[in-house]
Amino acid sequence: MISQEIIHLLKDTFQLDWQGIHGVSHWARVRLNGLLIAQHNRANKRVVELFAFFHDSKRMADFNDPDHGERAAEFIATLPLALLHINQQERALLMLACADHSKGFTQGDVTIRTCWDADRLDLGRGGQRPNTEKLCTSIAKEAVFFEQAYQRATYQYRRLAKMTPTALGVQTWKATHE
Ligand SMILES: [Fe+2]
Repeated sequence: MISQEIIHLLKDTFQLDWQGIHGVSHWARVRLNGLLIAQHNRANKRVVELFAFFHDSKRMADFNDPDHGERAAEFIATLPLALLHINQQERALLMLACADHSKGFTQGDVTIRTCWDADRLDLGRGGQRPNTEKLCTSIAKEAVFFEQAYQRATYQYRRLAKMTPTALGVQTWKATHE
């Protein structure tokens, strides 16, 4: 679990919309994706769930912010291990997963690859279907697993498209109502 202390720390320092495309609902889905992938491999579940909540926590922009992963890693380096409930080796893995998560890499430690796929499987929240060639765990590429993650990612988007014409544009709204 992610402690209230960590949630408060992240919320107090997050610079973007807490409910936005890189905010807490994305982090919660990444956590679920990661823990589900970890049931099929030997990824470190504690590192996976911390990655979910930290990897985008130091974004300064929703788009075009290539250094946000490095900033997340630097932030993690300043935090006490007792707060994170991990050891030094796990912190090193977590920092590497965060630092490189948006660089398109597909090779590495199983925990790190699990973190990256957990994040990539949630691309649908912005209307973008993930490219399976850019996924790096076998379970994430599996059709049923992939589709279930895509449905979770797009749920909010599909709901918004039906309910609020101004949120996604009249064209989208019309398409769902005509
Ligand atoms: Fe993310």
